[in-house]
Amino acid sequence: MSNHIIVAIDGYSSCGKSTLAKALAKKLNFIYVDSGAMYRAVALYFLRDKTDLKDHAKITAALKNIHLNFHSRDYQTHITLNDEEVSEEIRQMPVSDSVSAVAAIHEVRKEMVKQQQRMGRSKNIVMDGRDIGTTVFPNATIKFFMTADPKVRAERRFKELQPKNPDITLEYVFENLAHRDYQDTTRAESPLRRAEDAIILDNTDLTPDEQLLFALSMVEPFL
Ligand code: DC
Repeated sequence: MSNHIIVAIDGYSSCGKSTLAKALAKKLNFIYVDSGAMYRAVALYFLRDKTDLKDHAKITAALKNIHLNFHSRDYQTHITLNDEEVSEEIRQMPVSDSVSAVAAIHEVRKEMVKQQQRMGRSKNIVMDGRDIGTTVFPNATIKFFMTADPKVRAERRFKELQPKNPDITLEYVFENLAHRDYQDTTRAESPLRRAEDAIILDNTDLTPDEQLLFALSMVEPFL
């Protein structure tokens, strides 16, 4: 048994995972790692490089040229791709549209999981994603699996995206989320699923403060 604490948070897209993960990390003074940002940064590299996602030899070679780093400021995700700050760009639609396909590639997952496990080796961390409690840290101290009504999730994401994408529609966001859910849950490699020992947190009717209080009450016995 290791002497540090790992909080694993998995769930569907736009379920409030990162809101909860950041708030928990801040409250507990743990490191926060947004594993989705890593897949997004890899997707951005492939988009820019026009990498053929079926060319596995090229992908393996490209992964050696991709260096990701997190810089935590105020528990916001700041990620660099080969020393370039890409935190904003990885949230834009071109990356959102291509990231699930990138996250389904065996070589990509193998490399990301290795890097994520390294981050959790010696420090107290909160990590959110899709396979954290199942594949990355099957022995995590505590696991949460988050869900929410798909319509509520689409509305939340729409509000986030709309200021910077004035032409975007709620329907488009809803479809994009449904497509990602489908890809994330049906892919062959580490599909999104609840670990048997994960606590289910449905936050359709919860405020961020309410979900934080619930999660804290679950984590506190382990502190
Ligand atoms: O959480 P997010 O929307 O930023 O994740 C981006 C994509 O990466 C999404 O399609 C799911 C995938 N992902 C994954 O497969 N495994 C993770 N641990 C985190 C994200």
